[in-house]
Amino acid sequence: MTFNLPVVLGHRGARAVKAENTIEAFRYACQSGVKWVELDAMLSKDGIVMVFHDETLDRMTGQTGRLDEMTMEELQKFSVDSIEKIPTLAEVLDVLNGFQASVNIEIKPSRAGLARKTAREIWQVVCEKGFNNPDRLIFSSFAWDALEETAALAPEIRRGVLVEKKSGDWRAAAKKVKAYSINYNADLLTPELIGEIKNGGYHLMAYTVNDVRKARYLRKAGVESFFCDNPVAMTKALG
Ligand code: G3P
Ligand code: MG
Repeated sequence: MTFNLPVVLGHRGARAVKAENTIEAFRYACQSGVKWVELDAMLSKDGIVMVFHDETLDRMTGQTGRLDEMTMEELQKFSVDSIEKIPTLAEVLDVLNGFQASVNIEIKPSRAGLARKTAREIWQVVCEKGFNNPDRLIFSSFAWDALEETAALAPEIRRGVLVEKKSGDWRAAAKKVKAYSINYNADLLTPELIGEIKNGGYHLMAYTVNDVRKARYLRKAGVESFFCDNPVAMTKALG
Protein backbone atom coordinates (compact mmCIF):
# COMPACT_ATOMS: atom_id res chain seq x y z
CA MET A 1 0.00 0.00 0.00
CA THR A 2 1.20 3.51 -0.72
CA PHE A 3 -0.12 6.77 0.65
CA ASN A 4 -2.95 7.86 -1.60
CA LEU A 5 -5.40 10.29 -0.14
CA PRO A 6 -8.61 10.35 -2.19
CA VAL A 7 -10.75 13.35 -3.08
CA VAL A 8 -13.54 12.07 -0.82
CA LEU A 9 -13.25 10.79 2.76
CA GLY A 10 -16.20 9.34 4.65
CA HIS A 11 -17.06 11.77 7.44
CA ARG A 12 -17.70 9.90 10.74
CA GLY A 13 -18.01 6.85 8.50
CA ALA A 14 -20.92 7.88 6.32
CA ARG A 15 -23.16 9.82 8.64
CA ALA A 16 -25.80 10.65 6.03
CA VAL A 17 -26.46 6.93 5.60
CA LYS A 18 -25.65 5.21 8.91
CA ALA A 19 -25.44 6.45 12.50
CA GLU A 20 -22.22 8.43 12.77
CA ASN A 21 -19.06 6.89 14.17
CA THR A 22 -20.61 3.43 14.52
CA ILE A 23 -19.30 0.05 13.46
CA GLU A 24 -22.20 -0.15 11.02
CA ALA A 25 -21.21 3.17 9.45
CA PHE A 26 -17.60 2.11 8.93
CA ARG A 27 -18.60 -1.30 7.64
CA TYR A 28 -21.06 0.25 5.22
CA ALA A 29 -18.49 2.77 3.98
CA CYS A 30 -15.83 0.13 3.45
CA GLN A 31 -18.22 -2.30 1.77
CA SER A 32 -19.24 0.53 -0.56
CA GLY A 33 -15.67 1.08 -1.67
CA VAL A 34 -14.71 4.06 0.49
CA LYS A 35 -10.96 3.84 1.05
CA TRP A 36 -10.48 6.53 3.73
CA VAL A 37 -12.81 7.36 6.59
CA GLU A 38 -12.68 10.04 9.26
CA LEU A 39 -13.58 9.37 12.90
CA ASP A 40 -13.57 11.27 16.18
CA ALA A 41 -11.66 9.80 19.11
CA MET A 42 -12.19 10.77 22.75
CA LEU A 43 -11.29 9.25 26.13
CA SER A 44 -13.78 7.65 28.51
CA LYS A 45 -13.47 8.13 32.27
CA ASP A 46 -11.26 5.05 32.50
CA GLY A 47 -9.01 6.23 29.67
CA ILE A 48 -10.36 4.00 26.88
CA VAL A 49 -10.39 5.56 23.43
CA MET A 50 -14.01 5.77 22.29
CA VAL A 51 -15.18 6.75 18.82
CA PHE A 52 -17.64 9.55 19.47
CA HIS A 53 -18.05 13.14 18.36
CA ASP A 54 -19.74 15.03 21.19
CA GLU A 55 -18.53 15.72 24.70
CA THR A 56 -22.06 15.03 25.94
CA LEU A 57 -24.17 11.97 25.36
CA ASP A 58 -27.60 13.43 24.68
CA ARG A 59 -27.61 14.01 20.91
CA MET A 60 -26.50 10.53 19.94
CA THR A 61 -27.70 8.33 22.80
CA GLY A 62 -30.53 10.24 24.50
CA GLN A 63 -28.67 9.91 27.83
CA THR A 64 -27.59 12.79 30.01
CA GLY A 65 -24.03 13.42 31.11
CA ARG A 66 -20.59 13.59 29.62
CA LEU A 67 -18.70 10.85 27.83
CA ASP A 68 -15.63 11.42 29.98
CA GLU A 69 -17.62 10.91 33.17
CA MET A 70 -18.41 7.29 32.35
CA THR A 71 -16.36 4.17 31.95
CA MET A 72 -16.24 2.22 28.73
CA GLU A 73 -18.43 -0.46 30.28
CA GLU A 74 -21.06 2.09 31.28
CA LEU A 75 -20.92 3.78 27.88
CA GLN A 76 -21.33 0.57 25.96
CA LYS A 77 -24.66 -0.10 27.68
CA PHE A 78 -26.14 2.87 25.80
CA SER A 79 -27.21 2.73 22.21
CA VAL A 80 -26.41 5.19 19.49
CA ASP A 81 -29.54 6.16 17.58
CA SER A 82 -31.26 3.30 19.48
CA ILE A 83 -29.37 0.74 17.42
CA GLU A 84 -25.70 0.34 18.23
CA LYS A 85 -23.23 0.68 21.03
CA ILE A 86 -20.56 3.36 21.12
CA PRO A 87 -17.49 1.62 19.68
CA THR A 88 -13.97 1.79 20.98
CA LEU A 89 -11.21 2.84 18.62
CA ALA A 90 -9.84 -0.70 18.83
CA GLU A 91 -13.17 -2.11 17.61
CA VAL A 92 -13.33 0.31 14.69
CA LEU A 93 -9.74 -0.36 13.66
CA ASP A 94 -10.54 -4.09 13.59
CA VAL A 95 -13.29 -3.39 11.06
CA LEU A 96 -11.05 -1.14 8.96
CA ASN A 97 -8.31 -3.77 9.04
CA GLY A 98 -10.76 -6.28 7.61
CA PHE A 99 -11.16 -4.06 4.55
CA GLN A 100 -7.60 -2.75 4.35
CA ALA A 101 -9.15 0.70 4.72
CA SER A 102 -7.33 3.82 5.91
CA VAL A 103 -8.25 6.40 8.50
CA ASN A 104 -8.08 10.04 9.52
CA ILE A 105 -8.24 9.95 13.31
CA GLU A 106 -9.45 13.26 14.65
CA ILE A 107 -8.12 13.62 18.18
CA LYS A 108 -10.86 15.18 20.30
CA PRO A 109 -9.77 15.88 23.86
CA SER A 110 -12.93 16.10 25.94
CA ARG A 111 -11.41 18.86 28.09
CA ALA A 112 -8.62 21.37 27.80
CA GLY A 113 -5.57 19.76 29.33
CA LEU A 114 -6.35 16.29 28.01
CA ALA A 115 -4.96 16.82 24.51
CA ARG A 116 -1.60 15.16 24.96
CA LYS A 117 -2.93 12.27 27.03
CA THR A 118 -5.66 11.64 24.44
CA ALA A 119 -3.04 11.60 21.70
CA ARG A 120 -0.86 9.16 23.62
CA GLU A 121 -3.72 6.74 24.34
CA ILE A 122 -4.78 6.85 20.70
CA TRP A 123 -1.26 6.14 19.55
CA GLN A 124 -1.10 3.10 21.80
CA VAL A 125 -4.28 1.64 20.29
CA VAL A 126 -3.07 2.47 16.80
CA CYS A 127 0.13 0.54 17.45
CA GLU A 128 -1.70 -2.42 18.97
CA LYS A 129 -3.86 -2.68 15.87
CA GLY A 130 -0.99 -2.29 13.39
CA PHE A 131 -2.21 1.07 12.13
CA ASN A 132 1.11 2.74 12.87
CA ASN A 133 1.59 3.00 9.15
CA PRO A 134 2.01 6.37 7.40
CA ASP A 135 0.27 5.02 4.30
CA ARG A 136 -2.94 4.28 6.20
CA LEU A 137 -3.21 6.90 8.89
CA ILE A 138 -3.47 10.67 9.32
CA PHE A 139 -3.98 12.51 12.58
CA SER A 140 -5.92 15.74 12.78
CA SER A 141 -7.14 17.94 15.59
CA PHE A 142 -8.50 21.33 16.54
CA ALA A 143 -6.38 20.88 19.68
CA TRP A 144 -3.05 21.58 18.12
CA ASP A 145 -1.05 20.47 21.15
CA ALA A 146 -2.43 16.97 20.48
CA LEU A 147 -0.72 17.17 17.10
CA GLU A 148 2.51 18.30 18.76
CA GLU A 149 2.32 15.15 20.85
CA THR A 150 1.83 12.88 17.83
CA ALA A 151 4.67 14.68 16.05
CA ALA A 152 6.92 13.73 18.95
CA LEU A 153 5.59 10.17 19.24
CA ALA A 154 5.33 9.36 15.56
CA PRO A 155 6.79 12.01 13.26
CA GLU A 156 6.23 9.76 10.26
CA ILE A 157 2.43 9.91 10.59
CA ARG A 158 1.01 12.91 8.72
CA ARG A 159 -0.73 15.65 10.65
CA GLY A 160 -3.64 17.87 9.64
CA VAL A 161 -4.30 21.16 11.40
CA LEU A 162 -8.05 21.57 11.77
CA VAL A 163 -9.31 25.14 11.50
CA GLU A 164 -12.65 26.58 12.56
CA LYS A 165 -13.91 30.08 13.17
CA LYS A 166 -12.62 30.36 16.72
CA SER A 167 -9.20 28.87 15.90
CA GLY A 168 -6.12 30.94 16.59
CA ASP A 169 -3.13 31.32 14.30
CA TRP A 170 -3.17 28.14 12.23
CA ARG A 171 -0.12 29.28 10.26
CA ALA A 172 2.12 29.14 13.31
CA ALA A 173 0.57 25.86 14.43
CA ALA A 174 1.07 24.28 11.01
CA LYS A 175 4.72 25.26 11.07
CA LYS A 176 5.21 24.06 14.61
CA VAL A 177 3.72 20.60 14.05
CA LYS A 178 5.15 20.32 10.51
CA ALA A 179 1.65 19.78 9.17
CA TYR A 180 0.96 17.85 6.03
CA SER A 181 -2.50 19.30 5.55
CA ILE A 182 -4.73 22.16 6.57
CA ASN A 183 -8.25 20.89 7.22
CA TYR A 184 -10.43 23.96 6.89
CA ASN A 185 -14.10 24.61 7.51
CA ALA A 186 -15.45 24.74 3.95
CA ASP A 187 -17.75 27.66 4.75
CA LEU A 188 -14.81 29.85 5.72
CA LEU A 189 -12.59 29.22 2.71
CA THR A 190 -11.97 32.09 0.33
CA PRO A 191 -9.93 32.09 -2.90
CA GLU A 192 -7.23 34.10 -1.08
CA LEU A 193 -7.00 31.58 1.75
CA ILE A 194 -6.96 28.67 -0.64
CA GLY A 195 -4.11 30.32 -2.53
CA GLU A 196 -2.18 30.97 0.66
CA ILE A 197 -2.57 27.40 1.91
CA LYS A 198 -1.56 25.95 -1.45
CA ASN A 199 1.43 28.28 -1.68
CA GLY A 200 2.43 27.12 1.77
CA GLY A 201 2.81 23.63 0.31
CA TYR A 202 -0.03 22.07 2.29
CA HIS A 203 -2.59 19.55 1.16
CA LEU A 204 -5.94 21.32 1.52
CA MET A 205 -8.89 19.41 2.96
CA ALA A 206 -12.35 20.89 3.53
CA TYR A 207 -15.10 19.83 5.92
CA THR A 208 -17.95 19.13 5.67
CA VAL A 209 -19.03 19.27 2.06
CA ASN A 210 -22.26 17.59 1.01
CA ASP A 211 -23.28 19.80 -1.87
CA VAL A 212 -21.88 18.58 -5.18
CA ARG A 213 -21.80 22.02 -6.79
CA LYS A 214 -19.90 23.41 -3.84
CA ALA A 215 -17.44 20.52 -3.99
CA ARG A 216 -16.88 21.11 -7.70
CA TYR A 217 -16.32 24.82 -7.14
CA LEU A 218 -13.91 24.26 -4.26
CA ARG A 219 -12.06 21.58 -6.14
CA LYS A 220 -11.53 23.93 -9.06
CA ALA A 221 -10.31 26.54 -6.61
CA GLY A 222 -7.68 24.16 -5.22
CA VAL A 223 -9.21 22.05 -2.45
CA GLU A 224 -7.87 18.53 -2.80
CA SER A 225 -9.92 16.47 -0.38
CA PHE A 226 -13.38 16.68 1.16
CA PHE A 227 -14.97 15.17 4.24
CA CYS A 228 -18.43 14.07 3.11
CA ASP A 229 -21.39 12.59 4.97
CA ASN A 230 -22.35 10.52 1.94
CA PRO A 231 -18.96 9.61 0.50
CA VAL A 232 -20.37 7.10 -1.95
CA ALA A 233 -22.73 9.57 -3.62
CA MET A 234 -20.13 12.34 -3.60
CA THR A 235 -17.45 10.13 -5.13
CA LYS A 236 -19.84 9.12 -7.86
CA ALA A 237 -20.89 12.71 -8.53
CA LEU A 238 -17.35 14.03 -8.71
CA GLY A 239 -16.31 11.22 -11.05
O1 G3P B 1 -12.18 16.30 10.49
C1 G3P B 1 -13.16 17.01 9.82
C2 G3P B 1 -14.37 17.27 10.69
O2 G3P B 1 -14.77 16.06 11.26
C3 G3P B 1 -14.11 18.30 11.77
O3 G3P B 1 -15.24 18.69 12.45
O4 G3P B 1 -16.87 18.64 14.26
O5 G3P B 1 -17.18 17.14 12.32
O6 G3P B 1 -15.40 16.70 13.98
P1 G3P B 1 -16.20 17.75 13.30
MG1 MG C 1 -14.44 14.98 13.07
